[in-house]
Amino acid sequence: MEHTKHIWRISLLLLLVLIGAVLGRHFLIPDSFGKAGFYRYDALVELMGKEPVHGAPDSCADCHDEKALAKAAGLHRSVQCEVCHDVLSSHIRDDDKYADMAINRSYKLCAYCHQKLVARPAAMVQVDIAEHLELAPGDAIPAEACLECHDSENIHAP
Ligand code: HEC
Ligand code: HEC
Ligand code: HEC
Ligand code: HEC
Repeated sequence: MEHTKHIWRISLLLLLVLIGAVLGRHFLIPDSFGKAGFYRYDALVELMGKEPVHGAPDSCADCHDEKALAKAAGLHRSVQCEVCHDVLSSHIRDDDKYADMAINRSYKLCAYCHQKLVARPAAMVQVDIAEHLELAPGDAIPAEACLECHDSENIHAP
C-alpha cells in the first residue's frame, strides 16, 4: 500500500496540468476564434477598418494625367508609379495632397531593374552600368548618374 503514493502524486500532477490547459485555453483563445474557420473572425473587421496604403494602378492619373498618359505611351508603361516613387498614402489623404511625394533620383532605382545580371531574363533591357557610363576602373558611380541623360523629360516614357 505504501507504494501507491507515487501513483497519487503523478495523477495529481497530471490533473493540475489538465486544469491548467483547460483554463489556459479558456482565457487565451480570442472570443471570435473559430466563428467562421480556423482564424480570429474579428481580425477581418480590424483589417477592413485600416486605411489602404497603396493606390489602385491608375490612382495617380486623377491628378497627374499628363504623366500618366506619357507613361502609358512609353516603355515604362508596365512599371507602376508607386514602384519608383512612394505609396499613395504618403502623399494623399482625403483626396488631397498633404505631403510631398518622394522622388528617387538615385541610380540604384534604375539599377534595381536594369543592371546587367546573369540571372535576369534576357528579354529585360539591361546595361553594364560601368560600361554604359564609360567609367574608368575604380570610379564611383555618381549618385544621380542615370538622370543626366534619361532626364525628367523622358524618364516616364523612355
Ligand atoms: C521608372 C521610374 C518612374 C516611374 C514608373 C514614374 N516616375 Fe515619376 N519620376 C521619376 C524620376 C526619376 C523623377 C525625377 C526626374 C528628375 O528630377 O529629373 C520623377 C519625377 C516625377 C514628378 C516631378 C517632376 C516632374 O517631371 O514634374 C512627378 C509629378 C512624377 N514623377 C509623377 C509620376 C507619376 C504620376 C507616375 C505614374 C503615372 C510616375 N511619376 C511614374 C521616376 C518614375
Ligand atoms: C488628389 C490629387 C493627387 C493624387 C491622387 C496624386 N497627386 Fe501627386 N501631386 C498632387 C499635387 C497637387 C502636387 C503638387 C503640384 C504639382 O506638382 O502638380 C503633386 C506633386 C507630386 C510630385 C512632385 C513632388 C511633390 O510632392 O510636390 C510627385 C512626384 C507626385 N505628385 C507623384 C504622385 C504619384 C506617384 C501619385 C500616385 C501614387 C500621385 N502623385 C497622386 C496631387 C495628387
Ligand atoms: C521596376 C523596374 C524598372 C525600374 C525601377 C526602371 N525601369 Fe526602365 N524599364 C523597365 C521595363 C520593364 C522596361 C521596358 C522593357 C521593354 O519592354 O523592352 C524599361 C525600359 C527602359 C528604357 C528603354 C529601353 C529601350 O528598349 O529603349 C530605358 C532607357 C529605361 N528603362 C531607363 C530607366 C532608368 C534611367 C531608370 C531609373 C530612373 C529606370 N529605367 C527604372 C523597368 C524598370
Ligand atoms: C551619358 C548619357 C547617359 C547616361 C549617363 C546614361 N545613359 Fe542609358 N542610354 C544612353 C543612350 C544614348 C542610350 C541609347 C543608346 C544605347 O543603347 O546605348 C541609352 C540606353 C539605355 C538603356 C536601353 C539599352 C538597350 O539595350 O536598349 C537602358 C536600360 C539605360 N540606358 C539605362 C541607364 C541607366 C540605368 C543609367 C544609369 C546607371 C544610364 N542609362 C545612364 C545614354 C545615357
